[in-house]
Amino acid sequence: MSRPLLHGRFPEVADTLPHLRLGWAPTPVRRLSGLTDAVPVWCKDDSVYGEGGWGGNKIRKLEWILPDAHRRQARTLLTAGGLGTNWGLAAALYGREHGLTTAIALVDQPVDDHVRGQLARLRRSGAVLHFTRTKRRTIATAPWLFLRHTTGHRPPYVLPAGGSSAVGTLGYVEAALELADQIAAGELPEPSHVVTAVGTGGTAAGLALGLRLAGVRSRVVGAVVNDSLRLDGPAVAALARRTERLLRERGADFPPVGLAADEVTMVRDWLGPGYGHTTPEAERARSLAAATASLHLETVYTAKALAALLAMADDGRLGPGPVLFLHTHGPR
Ligand SMILES: Cc1ncc(COP(=O)(O)O)c(C=O)c1O
Repeated sequence: MSRPLLHGRFPEVADTLPHLRLGWAPTPVRRLSGLTDAVPVWCKDDSVYGEGGWGGNKIRKLEWILPDAHRRQARTLLTAGGLGTNWGLAAALYGREHGLTTAIALVDQPVDDHVRGQLARLRRSGAVLHFTRTKRRTIATAPWLFLRHTTGHRPPYVLPAGGSSAVGTLGYVEAALELADQIAAGELPEPSHVVTAVGTGGTAAGLALGLRLAGVRSRVVGAVVNDSLRLDGPAVAALARRTERLLRERGADFPPVGLAADEVTMVRDWLGPGYGHTTPEAERARSLAAATASLHLETVYTAKALAALLAMADDGRLGPGPVLFLHTHGPR
């Protein structure tokens, strides 16, 4: 399959930041009608990204993470997530496919049928599961987990929740370059805002950096759905700057971007009682998206992001638009 746009733009990093194609790019864009009269709404559908029936935004991160882990000769990916972690499951399934074991520290979250199903799939995935239960215990256990998953002289490849390391964030720099090409080709107008769910920040940070690199003026709006991490403008901009630094350290040469905190908008008003808890607004957005646009959202991430988009469009915060909704949920 095709080489990444990032390597086309920065051929200097082709060897130092290797890429493994795991899905068909570009993902489709389409106009969504019937959601709101306030602004034209478009969708970039990353739900279809990935192979073997498992997709979504994680896959774009793994395209950079898996080869980087191989480059460091790691045998195990060590990461963390909630009991129903999409990220952990994607890492386990794609890691296994590509010769890596995944170990996951699991933190409690509200358990419903979806989470029970995810946990069953995690158990079948071959991942090593550690039920650390709270964020505090996960941090306290981290040194033990590191040693437990060190084989010989090979330490595990450690990844933050959601795969939102600087390397993982490259997945959404790539997606932004892809979007820029779609805008240039006239497949959609340049959006005034790109709205996405924010669980660990990599998607929003990568998009913001990539759009700037491509000269697209769209502003990234992140609907924060996770209350256990700091995910405000400064935190997301700092991750974008770390990713910019990584590109430079690995050999890319380009004028500084230095994304500032006020160049992204993070909103928390659609989080509800906390991570994994549904809200009436999310339920409404999910039903509306299914009925009018055949979009299948879930209430942990994507329905909260669409609820934010609709409310912000209605109260004028997204201007006249057009607005792009990034659909990040992949399992089907
Ligand atoms: C379906 C879905 N959408 C959005 C996100 C948020 O992405 P990020 O963790 O990069 O903020 C996640 C994961 O956290 C997810 O599973």
